[in-house]
Amino acid sequence: MTINITPNAAPLGHEIRGADLRNLDETTFAAIDAAYRKFGVVVVRDQKLTPDEQIAFSSRFGPLERFALDRFNKKDHPEIFIVSNLLEAGKPIGMEDAGRYWHSDMWYTTAPPRGSHLYALEVPHADNGEPLGDTYFASTAYAYRTLPDDVKRKIEDLEALFSLRKYVAHVGHTEERAKNNVYLKEIVDAQQAIIDREIVHKLVRIHPITGEKCLYVVQGVIREILGLPQDESDSLIEFLTQHIIRPEAVYRHRWRAGDLVMWDNYSAVHRATGDFALPQRRLMHRTTLAAPLTVAA
Ligand code: OGA
Ligand code: MN
Repeated sequence: MTINITPNAAPLGHEIRGADLRNLDETTFAAIDAAYRKFGVVVVRDQKLTPDEQIAFSSRFGPLERFALDRFNKKDHPEIFIVSNLLEAGKPIGMEDAGRYWHSDMWYTTAPPRGSHLYALEVPHADNGEPLGDTYFASTAYAYRTLPDDVKRKIEDLEALFSLRKYVAHVGHTEERAKNNVYLKEIVDAQQAIIDREIVHKLVRIHPITGEKCLYVVQGVIREILGLPQDESDSLIEFLTQHIIRPEAVYRHRWRAGDLVMWDNYSAVHRATGDFALPQRRLMHRTTLAAPLTVAA
């Protein structure tokens, strides 16, 4: 199979055409895997994948992980997490809002996943035909590389406290929004169970596969950098966040049905948009790669 890998103007978000992910020989798979490691976000266009086929493709990278709220996993294929605004018998079939803030997936766990593969079955459109529900990506590896040396030195060994309580208060599914929405209430309840969980991550994360240094910052959820006064901590986090999401460093993915977008959960952060609503339909299937057990030398 001859595939075409096209670089992007942004430091991530390479596009692959000519691939059939149902049917990849070892050499072609290795080329996709290499692009994924190197570029952090890879868009594979024009796929036609059943749940089994998506699971089989994603499993070639290693073991999969199930999304924590089983309610949103596909009944007959729990390895697939449904990201969707569709209703069945009045109930949401998936999670509509999978993160409208700059984040990496499952930052509230000690061993966040290696990456996610999101496959678009239905993409909402505006009346003029433009796609809605774009996803934005930014490279945390590029962000680290392009920091001034004095900032690199300063943050080298710093640790940050990630707080679910802060997330719920500022960017999450608040009680207020949950009032009229049964399924948001489920999310809020699940969050309440772990709301006091506070996770410490190093601000500079060594990528366990590539060995690259990546910034580990999630928008609006870091309560403090350990050992720094609060105001200094807040301004450093704000500086790093803005540095990661500089417009020239951001790739905006405009979805087409049949896209499979693979993101590296360490070298990239991403953000969803909520600019669509029924009857505009969005249906995506996500497979999630578990954290690797081995660490890069
Ligand atoms: C996710 C996610 C973005 C989107 O599935 O983890 O953040 O646009 N999705 O749905
Ligand atoms: Mn996400």
